Amino acid sequence: MTRILIIGHKGQLGQTLFQFPTNHELLGMDLPEHDITDASATQYALRDMRPQIVINTAAFTNVDAAEAQPDLAYRINALAAGYLARFCEELGASLYHISTNEVFDGAMPGRRYDEWDQPDNTHGSVYARSKLAGENAIRFYHSRARIIRISWLFSRGKQNFPAKIVAAADKYGALRVVADEFGAPTYAPDLAAAIFQLIDFKAPPGIYHLVNEGMTSRYEFAKEALRLTGRGHIPITPIPHTEWQRAATPPLHAVLVNRMAAALGIQLRPWQDALADWAQSVE
Ligand SMILES: NC(=O)c1ccc[n+]([C@@H]2O[C@H](COP(=O)([O-])OP(=O)(O)OC[C@H]3O[C@@H](n4cnc5c(N)ncnc54)[C@H](OP(=O)(O)O)[C@@H]3O)[C@@H](O)[C@H]2O)c1
Repeated sequence: MTRILIIGHKGQLGQTLFQFPTNHELLGMDLPEHDITDASATQYALRDMRPQIVINTAAFTNVDAAEAQPDLAYRINALAAGYLARFCEELGASLYHISTNEVFDGAMPGRRYDEWDQPDNTHGSVYARSKLAGENAIRFYHSRARIIRISWLFSRGKQNFPAKIVAAADKYGALRVVADEFGAPTYAPDLAAAIFQLIDFKAPPGIYHLVNEGMTSRYEFAKEALRLTGRGHIPITPIPHTEWQRAATPPLHAVLVNRMAAALGIQLRPWQDALADWAQSVE
């Protein structure tokens, strides 16, 4: 049994990991009791808890809000990630840190990114750049960290794309959804299982992409979510991203491929199957 500390255990992924059936001992850390931007409190808490593994899911995840709060986004996504890596290294704890497909600029249609591709989103959103800075800080401070990149995370909670689509469909009775942004959805329970597999397989340090198999557009993803929840009759219109006003500009083609996990025999099912599973929980 390994003592694993999940940072951000009240969030979408954190909750799923924290409730996952496992023989490991799971500890949690989150706001408001603990703010990871307080470096000395974090160092003290880690020394007290003595985890063998730390999974960091905590982040400033509101991509649009980050545009207006770059200092806070950098403090959480980059600086705090770096402190964590340093304290884990000092304690001899392994660090599994969650990152994003948005570290890639996704400028080329049809391109898919594996773990050997160089992140290149240096002109992207504040969120994207702060997450990339976090990856770099972690690699600087921790020799054995695993950086896990995911995209379009969804779960049985309310704060995710398909859940918001269903809520908006029920509220407005018709939808307009961006059809020229592509990605690989990641179902939190499948991701949690894959992360515990990485831990149990003692996967070597490095970068891992962990997304459900396949790719889709926001529009097709939304359409499938409506169909699977019995809302296939609700009109949905495809629009270009230029018609959807938002503060941040996400990459349009940052589609991840799980090459490293596949090499270890870790596979995530196709996103359509995961979405069908998710739809069972929707009324
Ligand atoms: N959601 C996606 O589509 C997506 C896509 C790609 C990558 N990711 C990455 O996946 C990870 C998990 O995402 P998620 O959707 O599960 O995020 P989430 O639901 O926003 O959960 C993050 C958790 O971290 C907490 N937190 C934020 N700042 C903190 C701080 N300073 N100290 C301690 N805890 C703090 C949050 O608390 P509050 O709620 O109180 O702020 C929340 O409980 C993140 O690293 C994110 O960047 C997510």
